[in-house]
Parts: sequence; structure tokens; C-alpha cells
Amino acid sequence: MEESKKFLYSAVQPTNNLTIGNYIGAIRNWTMLQNDYNCYFAIANMHAITVRQTPAVLRQRTLSLLALYLACGVDPEKCTLYLQSHVPAHAELCWVLNTFTYVGEMERMTQFKDKSARHAENINMGLMDYPVLMAADILLYQADVVPVGLDQRQHVEIARDIAQRFNNAYSPTFKVPEALYMKVGAKINDLQDPAKKMSKSGENPNGSVFLSDDRDTIIRKFRRAVTDSDLEIRYDPETKPGVSNLLSIYSVFSGKTVEEAAAEFSGKGYGDFKAAVGEVVADRLAPIQAQQQKLLADKPYLDGVLKKGADGAAYAANKTLSKVYKKIGFYQL
Ligand code: TRP
Repeated sequence: MEESKKFLYSAVQPTNNLTIGNYIGAIRNWTMLQNDYNCYFAIANMHAITVRQTPAVLRQRTLSLLALYLACGVDPEKCTLYLQSHVPAHAELCWVLNTFTYVGEMERMTQFKDKSARHAENINMGLMDYPVLMAADILLYQADVVPVGLDQRQHVEIARDIAQRFNNAYSPTFKVPEALYMKVGAKINDLQDPAKKMSKSGENPNGSVFLSDDRDTIIRKFRRAVTDSDLEIRYDPETKPGVSNLLSIYSVFSGKTVEEAAAEFSGKGYGDFKAAVGEVVADRLAPIQAQQQKLLADKPYLDGVLKKGADGAAYAANKTLSKVYKKIGFYQL
């Protein structure tokens, strides 16, 4: 841990299968950010249970996600990579922060309203408390920055509000974090409906390319990707959303700029273009998938990573929690 570096916190839920959009928007960024910041990266399994999970599947996805991050180059020697439920301080700080959060503001959160509509049979307290647990995650580690997708903007805002409220009520305790919205390739759209973001839970499975898809599936999905009728390959997200989305994907997976990619395909047909995008994605994912499988076969190694991560995270988290307990008047031994 280099004191001169800023602190960064992010987490991902072990739900659903990740898509190439998640790879570009999150995982790949983590591998870059770990060099410039002191990073805490969590697998947020406590958030995951706010919607009903099958226990065996949740357990399996946790390890599978860990192996994927490692296979992509997230390095446990450079960052603290851990499982949220291994650090009890998250639940403990969440309880305290609940008393600094108003029911009304939680009821107004966009994601809570969306998820309540989608899971009308199970609008549980955890779903409503989701943003407070997320605030606890971030504030425990005194994070300066929180890289997230735009869908998490409101959650980072509320974490800032809660931090400021607590700091004002007592004395400076929490760092007030800044969201870091990732620019490059942060937004990869659905292959079948390019006006929409590619989602982990999309209704049309042909619209999303999953990191677990095999080569043939990847190539087939790109071959079927929606383009348009003017047959010209150029980057213009307004009028050519399908083609532009494919150019963005090609650019990220080939390491070329979007301009270079467009030049490479100018004058070529959509068929060749879509095949080339599929090839480059499949070629890039193959070694990652192989490494992930290799790691999944070595459970003692994965457990070791989680143990080391949990120790490092708990150390930092407990320092903050103990300050909080002191300030609010919890008698300490
Ligand atoms: N809510 C985030 C998501 O769904 C995951 C998450 C949990 C998170 N805790 C966090 C992200 C803390 C950033 C910081 O993507």
C-alpha cells in the first residue's frame, strides 16, 4: 500500500453472467486502475441476496467471478480482492448508517423503484437498504474514488450525502468519495437493439455476448447483429448505432482506434465486417476463458486469495468502524 496513492473502491455482484460490456466497462478498467490507486475490489454477495438467489448457484458464481477477474489480470498482489460477506464490518457500518438515512429518500431511488416493479413479490427491506450497504462499502475504506457505470450514479451520490451528514453531526470521519465514470467503451450496446445498453439479463440472448460464450456462439451472435440498410461502415452513433457499436467493440478488442477500425473496413461489406468483429472478440476471450477454468480447478489457490483479501480488507474496515463506534457513543472495551 503506497501512501501517496489515492484509495479506490469498487464492487461487482456475483449475479448473472457477465457480458463483453462488463469486461470493457469494469473488469478491464480494474486491471488498469490497480496500478494507479490503492484498490479495494469486492464481490458483493451481500447485495446479491436482495433478490432471491439459489444458494448453490450463488456459491458457484462467486468463485467463477473471482477466477474471471484473476484471469483478466486483476492481481491480488497489487490490490485487495475479497468477498463482501467475509468482512462483517460492512453489515455493522450499514446498521449505523441506516440511522443517518431517511426512508423517503430510499423510496425515491430509481433502482429501488425499478427493482420493486420487477420483483413485486419480494420487495424486502434489503432491497430498500441496498444503497446504504453500498455507502458502508465505500466509506469503510475511506475511498477517494469509486469507478462505476452511470446506472450507479445515484448510489454514489447518496453515499456522499450520508458521509457528509455523519461528518457534520460529529466531526470529519469519512472521506467524501467521488464517482469516476469510465469513458472508453463504458457503453456497449445490445447487438439486436443498439439503442439499448447490452445487459447481463437481457431478454434477447442474441443481443448480449457473454464472457462464457464459446467461439461459435460469439461468431454467430455477431453475424446476426443488427446494422442498417445504407451499407456504409463508418462511426456515427446517432444515425448508425448498430455499426458504430460494432466498431467500438472491434476497437477495444483489437487495440485499434475507432478511426483505424473504420478505415480498415471502409468499402467492405457488412458480412465480412461482422465476421471480423466476432473473430477478434473470440480470439481475445479464448485465453481468458482457459485461464479461468484452470484457476477454478485450483480451489486452494482461490481460497488463499480470498483469505488474504479478507484479512487486508478487515484491517482497513475495522479502523474506520472503530472510529465510528467511538463517535456515536458505543462503549468500547
Ligand atoms: N451496486 C453495484 C452494482 O450493481 C455493485 C456495488 C456494491 C458497488 N457495492 C459497491 C459498486 C460499492 C461500487 C462501490 O454494480
